[in-house]
Amino acid sequence: MSQDNADLEARLAEQDTFEPPESFVEQANITDPGIYEEFEENWPGCWERAADLLSWDEEYDAVLDDGDAPFYEWFTNGELNASYNCLDRHVEDGAGDNVAIEWEGELGETRTYTYEELLDEVEDTAAMLRGLGVEEDDIVTLYMPMIPELPIAMLACARIGAPHSVVFAGFSADALATRMNSADSEYLITCDGYYRRGDALDHISKTNEGLEGVEHEVSDVVVVDRLGDDLDHELADNQHDYDDLVAEYEGSTVEPVARDSEDMLFLMYTSGTTGQPKGVKHTTGGYLAYSAWTSHAVLDIEADDTYWCSADIGWITGHSYIVYGPLALGTTSVMYEGTPDYPDKDRMWEIVEKNEVDIFYTAPTAIRAFMKWGEEYPAQHDLSSLRLLGTVGEPINPRAWKWYYKHIGNEECPIVDTWWQTETGGMMITTLPGVCEMKPGSAGPPLPGIDAQVVDANGEEVDAGQAGYVTVNNPWPGMLRTLYDNDERFINEYWNEYSDEEADEWVYFPEDGAKIDEDDYITILGRVDDVINVSGHRLGTMEIESAVVGVEGVAEAAVVGGDHEVKGEAVYVYAIPEDGYEGGEELEGRAAEAILDSIGPIAKPEEIVFTHELPKTRSGKIMRRLLEDIASGNELGNTSTLRNPDVVDDIAEQVSTD
Ligand code: WT7
Repeated sequence: MSQDNADLEARLAEQDTFEPPESFVEQANITDPGIYEEFEENWPGCWERAADLLSWDEEYDAVLDDGDAPFYEWFTNGELNASYNCLDRHVEDGAGDNVAIEWEGELGETRTYTYEELLDEVEDTAAMLRGLGVEEDDIVTLYMPMIPELPIAMLACARIGAPHSVVFAGFSADALATRMNSADSEYLITCDGYYRRGDALDHISKTNEGLEGVEHEVSDVVVVDRLGDDLDHELADNQHDYDDLVAEYEGSTVEPVARDSEDMLFLMYTSGTTGQPKGVKHTTGGYLAYSAWTSHAVLDIEADDTYWCSADIGWITGHSYIVYGPLALGTTSVMYEGTPDYPDKDRMWEIVEKNEVDIFYTAPTAIRAFMKWGEEYPAQHDLSSLRLLGTVGEPINPRAWKWYYKHIGNEECPIVDTWWQTETGGMMITTLPGVCEMKPGSAGPPLPGIDAQVVDANGEEVDAGQAGYVTVNNPWPGMLRTLYDNDERFINEYWNEYSDEEADEWVYFPEDGAKIDEDDYITILGRVDDVINVSGHRLGTMEIESAVVGVEGVAEAAVVGGDHEVKGEAVYVYAIPEDGYEGGEELEGRAAEAILDSIGPIAKPEEIVFTHELPKTRSGKIMRRLLEDIASGNELGNTSTLRNPDVVDDIAEQVSTD
């Protein structure tokens, strides 16, 4: 360790709270601490402030309609168009030459779209979709990596009122089919392939395999040619080359369709407790207002900023904070196609320096990787353009927070540790960077207008220092409206635990454990359901289990998360072979393959352990907690209450010696 670093560690390790730097506060979008009270006193009217960031075709009648809770409606009877708000109005305001998307390809090529150029592309694509027969409310599936055609297609869908359902490109063929089936989606935009660490990956074969699993007729598939000639693929009858097709519509004018506030803007599938992914429904008015508001208040984005969120658009973070929020505010949003260590481990910092990025938003898993690679990589670059840093996706440990603060922010940038979920649409618990002091490891207080608390199993608020569960007592504009085609599951998943239906009191339960301190700062402890968080990505253990038990020769399986230095959590599979089969490389290989096929490489297990039994309680329940402790290398507590305590050593030995 260098002397410098040792001094830093000594000094920073002692420090528990950090004041926002003066230079930041002087220019911040929000600096008045009175905003918390102001929002509380004027709730729900306070949310007009979010709606005011948008241009409405038709004014709304009421901010909130809670007549049919928990099916809340926001900005009722208002009308607007998301693509108009993200594009046209900036052009009309004379900012057409401002850069909207600055795209960095993995191989070093770049593409720059001004607002005017992006609008042109979006109109052409919208005309193309209409030409294919896409009508308002038809769900269009987008299965693309980080290429500009993805946000273009999203905005084109929004323009004609066709909700999109983006499927993360790293997901498997099966995952694509499941999502298209669930949404009855008849249109798909995909691509031939893309680059990862310089290699061309085949995406179209995976797409075609997925399409075989779609149960209804798919009208049209449009294929973006990302690779040029690197990959030959034949197009089926209902498949079109994107460039050829969109060229037919070049120069089109497509008027943005006025959508009702409550009309669906998009669906985003996410993992839950059961094997079936949930189709989270977000709406046009509330979601857009909320993503724009939080981009303004928390990320401090302004139109003349260059802002970079390093997430993938295939997740909610990319929807809210690469596309909708930042573009609604007219800023320049950087989009990077590739991996952070290609061609070298300073790639991120090279992009920050080159684009003079003002605001950078990433995940703790990335920060832990940067930390491991060493401070020499950021040190090679001028990062002085940075003004604010953010994190999202999982708890950040104070050591990683302080490293980020020092080595990326040069102790001059506030850090916002933002807690939220696919379902919440936008940030919920985090500091306001120009107002609040920061406490590394703690996300912060609930945002103004957000009534979140930490409660015990009975719903009573816990005392400072005690652990409990996060709940949210009041609705907010960015919230999901339902699970697609499944209102019942929506109620069961989010509103059953703490609500009092009789009294019409509805409490949202995000299924996260947390602690709260005397200043109302909330420290998130992690999921309390069967969802694990691998590199900030949410995976359902049940989905992985069902993939493994589907393998010939596997009798039973339990999947848990174990601590991982960089990923936060990693996937551990414990399985029992069927009679006549044996654990070993062959069966492990097939189990790993099944996981890859049903979910994708992000769910790749750290370990697959075959054992003759799984630890079970006397009533026959698998002791997951114990399996988690084994995976994490924790000390194992009392195992004497197990029906079969002797299997524990057996399993632990396999995990530690592998
Ligand atoms: C789960 C939601 C929100 C976009 C990315 C993930 C965990 C998220 C934090 C944070 C601690 C966090 C929670 C949450 N999480 N942000 N700042 N600190 N935990 O969205 O896939 O819907 O996952 O991510 O456990 O429930 P998601």
